[in-house]
Amino acid sequence: MSEILQDHIESFLDDFSPETSDLSWELRAYAKDNHVPIIDEEVKQFLSFYLNTLKPRKILELGTAIGYSSIWMSQIKGVQELHTVEIRPEMFALAKENIERANCKNVRQFQGDAADYLDKSQEMYDFIFIDAAKGQYPFYFKKALQRLEKNGVIGFDNILFRGMISNQDLVKRRKITIVKRLRKLLSELKLDQAYEKTLIPLGDGFLLVRRNDV
Ligand SMILES: C[S@@+](CC[C@H](N)C(=O)[O-])C[C@H]1O[C@@H](n2cnc3c(N)ncnc32)[C@H](O)[C@@H]1O
Repeated sequence: MSEILQDHIESFLDDFSPETSDLSWELRAYAKDNHVPIIDEEVKQFLSFYLNTLKPRKILELGTAIGYSSIWMSQIKGVQELHTVEIRPEMFALAKENIERANCKNVRQFQGDAADYLDKSQEMYDFIFIDAAKGQYPFYFKKALQRLEKNGVIGFDNILFRGMISNQDLVKRRKITIVKRLRKLLSELKLDQAYEKTLIPLGDGFLLVRRNDV
């Protein structure tokens, strides 16, 4: 359970709209048993609803892990392509297997560093889901803006970072650099009128950002 929601609310939300396919159940169970962090159930419910409204044609995901979120996002109506980047070869391989099992032909996987991918890519996206190294979020954000279509949206998972962003008492020593960087990103965004943003206190905190000037 995260530090963001009360446990009974989180359980209630998770039960409200449970997994629909056997593969989703299997992947969620695998992630839990093997301590692979994947999107929280209630964030998935929210994001799935939001993406069905936004109707992105092309999605970029930074941080594939076992391919769980790549699979359901690529199955959202109207998504023509989903590109996903993962640095760890063993995760990349596991995700490949799972994506093939789910028969998601519109997913393209890239193995490597998310920041390098953003530097080299010439692609443009309607939605960019940032879920790789948390300490790199400010750098990903700057680079992702260059790859975002007009009216595009960027989503960040784990933005409240187990409550450490808003409550100093929860900060773990070894996480101080990440906490400082995430706080700086949030305070800069707060002051910057060029962006519309909303911070949703679900899961570990989810942030949506879009440019105002488009
Ligand atoms: C939270 S998991 C992704 C979960 C996935 N989006 C989901 O919800 O199913 C984060 C992943 O990012 C990967 N990662 C960490 N640093 C990275 C980097 N610099 N470039 C690309 N991937 C990275 C990790 O190996 C890990 O598999």
